[in-house]
Amino acid sequence: MSGFAPDWLRLRESADHAARDRGLLDKLAAYFAGREAVTVVDLGAGLGSNLRATASYLPKVQRWVLVDHDPALLAAACEVIAAWADSHQPTADGIEARKGDHSLHVKLKHADLAADVAPWGSSAPDLVTAAALLDLVSADWIARFVAAFTRARIPFYTALTHDGGTQWNPPHPGDAAMDSAFTRHFGRDKGFGPAVGGAATALMADRLSAAGYEVSRAPSPWRLGAGDAALLAALADGWAEAVRETGEVAGIVIDEWVEARKRPGNACMVGHADLLALPPA
Ligand SMILES: C[S@@+](CC[C@H](N)C(=O)[O-])C[C@H]1O[C@@H](n2cnc3c(N)ncnc32)[C@H](O)[C@@H]1O
Repeated sequence: MSGFAPDWLRLRESADHAARDRGLLDKLAAYFAGREAVTVVDLGAGLGSNLRATASYLPKVQRWVLVDHDPALLAAACEVIAAWADSHQPTADGIEARKGDHSLHVKLKHADLAADVAPWGSSAPDLVTAAALLDLVSADWIARFVAAFTRARIPFYTALTHDGGTQWNPPHPGDAAMDSAFTRHFGRDKGFGPAVGGAATALMADRLSAAGYEVSRAPSPWRLGAGDAALLAALADGWAEAVRETGEVAGIVIDEWVEARKRPGNACMVGHADLLALPPA
């Protein structure tokens, strides 16, 4: 796939953190309550946004493995963690950081998840996480991934899986054409086979329930408006780029739509979902 720009991941982080469902995070915290330490593998970690959103809900001592196929993002993740932490020091394979009364030992792992659905090898972590990843994968990948971590009875927490629903406001005559072309682009192969896109959370939930897991789901939409101009503009540019690649919408329509979407007064609701899956007792 074409890769994720660090600027885009930085720009979306505060909207992502604000959108996460607090009820699922509290349930995750309750699951690990009383534990002193936890090991976590974060898939498609990017700049480590998921670690920063989740760390305060987990036990005081945390050993994270951040997995990504983009070495530049992993290297930048250490810089972002260092800037976020109260104190830090580099290690041979990552970084150690303190944030509040939490101590985090972070290891970077370069791996292609399309080829390796279970990059923890033979030492199963206490928790597997992923954020803004599952809409990129295929139904076949989900089946293999769920089989791998349910076999090891590992809990799984995922946030911000795009559910395919986006509502721009105010309405624009180009919306319908842009939306249908974007949706088709969303289903293209992102390196894992044909992407499940908006169906990802439901597919995961069905497979996890069938494996006996207790599954909780909750919406986590972005509600962007006044104050989110930079993210709205980047979102509109991203849509335009994707729609252009489909060749389904005339360039002049795309240009006019993007220009209108960057004017003050726009708002956008982007549908996402979070999911927490706990193994059978
Ligand atoms: C939308 S970004 C989300 C990043 C981060 N989890 C966050 O919430 O900001 C998707 C991430 O998945 C990674 N990714 C995509 N395909 C991958 C693959 N085949 N193997 C490993 N990582 C992959 C990308 O490099 C990117 O960091």
